[in-house]
Amino acid sequence: MSQRTCLSVILAAGEGTRMKSAVPKVLHLIAGLPMVAHVVKAAEAAGSGDLALVIGHGAEEMRKATQKFAPKAETFVQDKRLGTAHAVLAARAAISKGYDDILVMFGDTPLIDPEVLAAARLKLAEGAAVVVVGFRTSNPSGYGRLIEKGGKLVAIREEKDCTGEEKKITFCNGGLMAVAGKHALQLLDQVGNNNAKGEYYLTDIVEIAGGQGFDVVAAEASFENALGINNRAELAAAEGIWQTRRRREAMLSGVTLIAPETVFFSHDTEIGADTIVEPNVWFGPGVTIATGAKIHAFSHIEGATIASNCDVGPYARLRPGADLRQKAKVGNFCEVKGATIEEGAKVNHLTYIGDARVGAGANIGAGTITCNYDGYSKFFTDIGEGAFIGSNSSLVAPVTIGKGGYIASGSVITESVPDDALAFGRARQRTLAGKGKELRERFASAEAARKKA
Ligand code: UD1
Ligand code: MG
Repeated sequence: MSQRTCLSVILAAGEGTRMKSAVPKVLHLIAGLPMVAHVVKAAEAAGSGDLALVIGHGAEEMRKATQKFAPKAETFVQDKRLGTAHAVLAARAAISKGYDDILVMFGDTPLIDPEVLAAARLKLAEGAAVVVVGFRTSNPSGYGRLIEKGGKLVAIREEKDCTGEEKKITFCNGGLMAVAGKHALQLLDQVGNNNAKGEYYLTDIVEIAGGQGFDVVAAEASFENALGINNRAELAAAEGIWQTRRRREAMLSGVTLIAPETVFFSHDTEIGADTIVEPNVWFGPGVTIATGAKIHAFSHIEGATIASNCDVGPYARLRPGADLRQKAKVGNFCEVKGATIEEGAKVNHLTYIGDARVGAGANIGAGTITCNYDGYSKFFTDIGEGAFIGSNSSLVAPVTIGKGGYIASGSVITESVPDDALAFGRARQRTLAGKGKELRERFASAEAARKKA
C-alpha cells in the first residue's frame, strides 16, 4: 500500500453556529490542538502524503492556523455551502493531479483512528471504487443510513430523505469515505441536488458508483471514529474520550497515574516510564518528562523539560522554558519560567524563578524571588553551583551570584556576588533591652486616657 499515492480532502467550510463562538468550529482545541489538526495527524499517520483543506467560514483565520499544523496543506475556499459533494469538488484542482486513493474526512470529527483510514485504503487497493466507513448505533437519528441489498452497500440515504422503514436502519454513515482516485471526479460530477435539503450530497456517489458496476463496500468502525463535534458539550465529550485513551497509553507504557481520571495530557506530552503522577495534574503543550520523575498533586506544567528523577510539586507551576535537570526539585507554590534548574538544585517553597539559571546543587530558600522585570524589559539572574540563597530574598536582575555564594535571609541583592562570598542586603538588626515592655506601657496609658475623655 505504501507505494499508492493518497490525497486527503478535509472538509471544514461549515460555520459551526452551535459552538456560539467567534472562532471557527474546527479550530477549537482538543488536548491543546485544533480538532482539524487531529484529523490531519490521523491522515498523515495513515500514509496520506498530500492534504487539501476545504475552508469557507473564517477563511483567513483558517489559513493562518493551517500554516501552523499543516504547512504543506493546500487550502481551497468553498464560497457557498452547497453540500458535501460540492465541498469536495472545491478541491478539484488537487484531486485532478491524479492519486491512487482519495480520503474524504470531516474537520469536526477529531477522534478518527488512523487504522480505520488505513483499512479503508486497503480496500481500495483490493479493487473497491468507494469505501464508506459506517458505525452501528441504537440512536441513528441525524445520520445517513447505509442501505444494503443482498449484503452489498447500494446507497446512503440521508435522514430527511428516508422512508419510515429506512429510518429504522441502525448502520450509519460515519462521514469518512475512501474513493479510487481514477474515478473520483467523474463520480462527483454526476451528483445532483434533488433531495430534501437541495444539497449536493457526497453520499450519492455510492449509488452512482454501484450503478456503473463498481465495487462499493462498507467498513465498520466504532462510533468514536464518527463522533462529530457540533457544540461545546460534544467538544468536552471528545476531550474526555481523547484523555481516556491517552491515560491508558501512558499507563501501559510504564507511567503510574494514581487517579488517571484527574490527569490531563496535551497532544504532545512525552512522559517516560516509572514516572509517578499524583492526582490533579495538568500538562499543557510542550512537556517532556524523562524517566522516574515524581509529579506531585495539583501541579500545572507547560512548555517544560523535566529530566529523570526530578521531583515536582505539590502545587508547582512550570511555565514555558522551565528546564529541570536530573534530580532537581521544585516544590510547593513555586513558579519557574524560562529557567534552568541544574542537577540536584532545590527550589522548594513559595518561590519565583524567572529568566534564570540555578546552578547544580544550589539551594533556594523559601520565598525567594528573581525580580526579572522592570515593567519594560526582562533580565537574567545567574545563580552559581552550590550557592545558598537565604529565605525571603529578592534577586534584582540582571545579577550574578557566584559559585558557592551565600545570601543572607531577607536580602535585596542588586549587585553581583562573587564566588564563595557572603552577602547581606538588609538593615542590621537593633535589639533594645527592656524597650518592649516600656512601649507597651506607654500605649496602654495613652488608650486609658482616650477612653476617660
Ligand atoms: C453528513 C453525511 C451523513 C453522515 C454524517 C456523519 C452527507 C450528505 N451526509 O451529514 O451521511 O451520517 O455526515 O456525521 O455527506 N461541509 C462543507 N461544505 C458543505 C457542506 C458540509 O465543508 O457545503 C462540511 C461541514 O463543515 C462538516 C462536514 O462537511 O465538517 C459534514 O457536513 P454536515 O452538514 O455536518 O453533514 P451532516 O448533515 O452531518
Ligand atoms: Mg454533521
